[in-house]
Amino acid sequence: MSRLVVVSNRVAPIQEGKQSTGGLAVAVQDALSEVGGVWFGWSGETFTNGTARVHTETRGKVTYATMPLARRDYDAFYKGYANATLWPLFHYRMEFVEYQRAYVVGYRRVNEQFAGRLAPMLEPDDLIWVHDYHLIPLGRDLRMMGHRNRIGFFLHIPFPPPDLLTACSDHAFLVQSLCAYDVIGFQTENDVDNFLSYIRTVAGGTVGRNGRFEAYGEKSRACSFPIGIYPDQLAALSASTARAGQTRRLVKSLAGKDLIVGVDRLDYSKGLDRRFDAYETLLETAPGLRGHVTYMQIAPPSRTDVQGYREIRQILERKAGHINGRFAEFDWVPLRYLNKSFQREQLTGFFRMSRVGFVTPLRDGMNLVAKEYVACQDPEDPGCWCCRSSPAPPPSSTAR
Ligand code: UDP
Ligand code: G6P
Repeated sequence: MSRLVVVSNRVAPIQEGKQSTGGLAVAVQDALSEVGGVWFGWSGETFTNGTARVHTETRGKVTYATMPLARRDYDAFYKGYANATLWPLFHYRMEFVEYQRAYVVGYRRVNEQFAGRLAPMLEPDDLIWVHDYHLIPLGRDLRMMGHRNRIGFFLHIPFPPPDLLTACSDHAFLVQSLCAYDVIGFQTENDVDNFLSYIRTVAGGTVGRNGRFEAYGEKSRACSFPIGIYPDQLAALSASTARAGQTRRLVKSLAGKDLIVGVDRLDYSKGLDRRFDAYETLLETAPGLRGHVTYMQIAPPSRTDVQGYREIRQILERKAGHINGRFAEFDWVPLRYLNKSFQREQLTGFFRMSRVGFVTPLRDGMNLVAKEYVACQDPEDPGCWCCRSSPAPPPSSTAR
């Protein structure tokens, strides 16, 4: 069987006990530790002088190969093009899109660097699997270096419709780069439709059956492969963590109040500001709930040096203070707002003893937390899952 080589910007922390708070690292770690292989990407560190060296370390069936980024590459590639241009564009948030020529130059430079550093590690029959919006050109860069391996790409975030994508002057470069992959995976059928619509209407390509298409002289395939979780593992884990020390402390601190829980990176795509507004409206319009319900929002800071993220953090701090100032009593705080991350194991216990999982992204690739919350419920006494635009629950629903 071919060796699997995964390439992503973010790599799960190699050190024991350190938690990934992003869906990509969580999902790839779960999948790769089962089948084994190589995981190549950014070490999470930056440097100002010298050159980047690849550090390899093997744990279990996975060899992690990571390299730092030069500070100027971090600024242009990660902070700039990936997270201030592509992220808002692909999440339909044009008001946050920042564009500088230096960003796309840095983006191309880092992708070429990644290809150059990865190349000596590759064997001819390796199956290469590139992940997410940071590394769209990587497959084409490897092809230009002569690699004939099978290379697939998976996008963890939404793919926008042509009308939005073409607002970015690099749209043709991005889509041409995607066409160099043998298979392009998206989270949903809607994302596949948006991509194929671009192929038809902007690239002038042809689209056949089962996602097969031809464009820019390439033949490839676009399909949806929604990422999931291992529900049985999480169910078993939550049954034991529900009895663990931290969950017991949480239950004790609630003193009988029902818990609503939200867990999201502190990102404007997650709809946290409107979620806080909704909770305030709930307390305002259902006074009987005051003193009987507590909402705990876990929101680890993310991409803290990108402007849009600084703004949402300030907004949430203001709203949290406002809600608590307006409704808190000497023996009850309505909103617990925590800017820190928790081990996923701990979260499973918190999920199991919460009455409501509160998940309201404005637009999201998939959202693992929503799936995790459901998997962690006690079948004898489940909580309910509250999400933006959720369909009306069936009569047998667990919601109450
Ligand atoms: N997560 C975690 N600890 C935290 C916050 C999040 O382990 O403090 C995990 C969470 O359980 C989920 C992932 O990080 O597995 C977040 O993935 P999701 O798809 O919900 O959102 P993303 O961050 O990828 O946008
Ligand atoms: C989302 C993206 C991932 C990213 C994660 C955390 O899940 O799809 O590519 O790794 O957020 O963001 P960060 O910028 O910390 O890697």
